[in-house]
Amino acid sequence: MPVSKEIYLKLLQNNEEWVKERLKTDAHYFSDLEKGQSPHFLWIGCADSRVPAEEITGLEPGDVFVHRNIANVVSTNDFNLMSVLQYAVEVLHVQHIIVCGHYGCGGVIASMSNKDFGLVNKWLHNIKEVYFTHHKELDAIENEEQRGRRLVELNVQEQVRNLAETSIVQKAWNKRELSVHGWVFDMGTGFIKDLNVMLDDQESLHPIFRYDLK
Ligand code: CO
Repeated sequence: MPVSKEIYLKLLQNNEEWVKERLKTDAHYFSDLEKGQSPHFLWIGCADSRVPAEEITGLEPGDVFVHRNIANVVSTNDFNLMSVLQYAVEVLHVQHIIVCGHYGCGGVIASMSNKDFGLVNKWLHNIKEVYFTHHKELDAIENEEQRGRRLVELNVQEQVRNLAETSIVQKAWNKRELSVHGWVFDMGTGFIKDLNVMLDDQESLHPIFRYDLK
């Protein structure tokens, strides 16, 4: 496919128009934005271009701290995500952490195959582990698409749990309220489904995952 310079330059034109629009309604918009951020939400979502956190939730610049990766995986070995989490919880004091997956997730579908994806295997292994944890339920779903949709949901549920199992989240729970939510975006309808897998204390965690923070 030939590289089109026009579609690239359009982004910069769009930016100029966006600045004009914002200043039209609020002359102080950017000087206010520059003063700092205090978002209430940390969003952990898929890198998929069809799931823009702000747009589907009606949020504005300054409202949400965002981390996105392939298939919204929370791995404690991921220094990038763990640094985002620590900053969001300990410095920004976000009140809600939202893990948002989406049906038709390429990463989740890839994890269900036996293909060799090279380096990506290492990342998808996190999701294969989720499958393995729930293999009885998943293997019983004959329709492959339905099985994929269920794995998307279970993947979100397990990533919510992974967050709750970090000392970062548990330290916050010792001092204040912090909720970790699991959502799935359905791009076929535009609606977000709340999976009702919210965690806001250590109670439901197996003791092996509970840190002694007293
Ligand atoms: Co995805």
